[in-house]
Amino acid sequence: MTVAEQVLIELEENKGKPISGEELAEKLGCSRNAVWKAVKALENEGYEVVGIRNKGYTLKTSADGLSSAYIEAKLQKAGVKLALETYKSIDSTNSLLKRYAAEGESRDMVAVAEEQTAGRGRRGRSFFSPKGSGLYMSFLLHPDVPIAEATSLTTVAAVAEANAIERVTGFETGIKWVNDIWMRGKKVSGILTEAQTSIESGTLDYCVVGIGINLYEPECGFPEEIRDVAGAVYTENLKRENLKNDLAAALIEEFMSFYEKFPNKAYLEDYKKRCFCIGRDVTVVTSDHKALETDKSAPDRVHAHVLGVDENCHLHVRYKDGAEGFLSSGEISIRL
Ligand code: BTN
Repeated sequence: MTVAEQVLIELEENKGKPISGEELAEKLGCSRNAVWKAVKALENEGYEVVGIRNKGYTLKTSADGLSSAYIEAKLQKAGVKLALETYKSIDSTNSLLKRYAAEGESRDMVAVAEEQTAGRGRRGRSFFSPKGSGLYMSFLLHPDVPIAEATSLTTVAAVAEANAIERVTGFETGIKWVNDIWMRGKKVSGILTEAQTSIESGTLDYCVVGIGINLYEPECGFPEEIRDVAGAVYTENLKRENLKNDLAAALIEEFMSFYEKFPNKAYLEDYKKRCFCIGRDVTVVTSDHKALETDKSAPDRVHAHVLGVDENCHLHVRYKDGAEGFLSSGEISIRL
């Protein structure tokens, strides 16, 4: 970890309480001159470090922009080793990592952005990714597991994300099957997992797991088509300092702690606890289910009661005629 990264962590952890150059130098085991240089480096990165005479340095406000130095420092402190790239703006973090993989990138890595100009969602939809109000990130992974097993990485991401949001904000989160994060009755995040497989060997070349989170309500509101369902982690003009960096670091840390054990299903208990569909009546919109009793006006919809979630995160449902089934994919709607 560079001295600048260490100084940044100290200043963040002591917000509002100045620390002298001498104290920092002693704590970090470096010279006062090295601390001074580190402060200058942070200022060049956009941090506002205030020097208070006879008291020391304090961090005024975080720019709320992404800082690789800050996230890397947090990850190092947590013992997480993962290549990281941050962007102010990018077409799509998933597309970026797929390009890297196609060019031969063999490392696992994570890319985080403040804005996406061509964010992509599931089922070919676009994902609204404006500047300032969201966090968009993707993991490039090369897990040595059968293709079918890799689909659980989406679940790992959902649990890691729910845990990270709660840890950083203190707000409760829920998971709507399959893998959307909901808060206060609205969807605040979605996940898109894409994989490249080798036809000859039938194995997985790589996987890209992309997570998009609405942190704040966008200034001009959510677009009409998602307004009813979309929500944000923080509402009512509330802001949390340094949210993007703290949440990115916490999410990477949570994700990697499950991924290190993958395909071990350590995440499953948390998933079941957070999956708020269990015990509710739902409408299955599209899925691989055998339509048992359909609504004639909407033949692609089936009413069901959710009994639970199995080892593979398949939704165990009972249809109106008493028959039971397990849904492995699709979408459900739920009246909250
Ligand atoms: C969905 O709810 O439909 C899934 C949305 C996934 C969006 C994320 S944002 C980061 C990554 N890059 C993308 O283009 N998409 C995913």
